[in-house]
Amino acid sequence: MIERWIRRWDANGVGQFIVELDGTLIGRVGFLVWDAGTWETSTYDLAGAHAETELGWAILSPYWGRGYATEAAAAAREWIDRERIVSLIHPANVRSQRVAEKLGARIEKKVEMPAGPADVWVHP
Ligand SMILES: CC(C)(COP(=O)(O)OP(=O)(O)OC[C@H]1O[C@@H](n2cnc3c(N)ncnc32)[C@H](O)[C@@H]1OP(=O)(O)O)[C@@H](O)C(=O)NCCC(=O)NCCS
Repeated sequence: MIERWIRRWDANGVGQFIVELDGTLIGRVGFLVWDAGTWETSTYDLAGAHAETELGWAILSPYWGRGYATEAAAAAREWIDRERIVSLIHPANVRSQRVAEKLGARIEKKVEMPAGPADVWVHP
């Protein structure tokens, strides 16, 4: 997985960060590039005008509910220099929706991805 992340950093100049709490790895946050024509992961070069940059988050469950996903995602969003950032969230994932709301994102549309339905949240 880490090798794949490194390849994506090399291809896109953006990618996943790990989230640490006092030196302990508690999750990941960062960016994936999608081809919005197929909703498969891609690169800026291959996807061209169809490229979407997704900010995503995952925290290990013992650390849920303490604001870490929101804090880490806000830091990643500060870091990146892109006009349009989206988050793709399953309509039943209420925790993740709450993170998106706290970040000021709004649902733009619903899409069907290979793995199932997702709401496209657009960041301010
Ligand atoms: C989604 C996830 C990253 C949230 O991480 P987290 O560090 O707990 O997030 P935060 O603490 O910043 O915020 C979680 C919010 O969800 C709320 N929440 C938790 N359980 C909830 C529930 N059952 N219903 C509604 N809201 C809920 C919390 O109260 C909190 O909101 P608040 O600050 O207004 O109280 C974490 O649950 C996770 O890793 N899930 C598995 C991976 C995943 O789904 N990633 C996202 C894919 S789109």
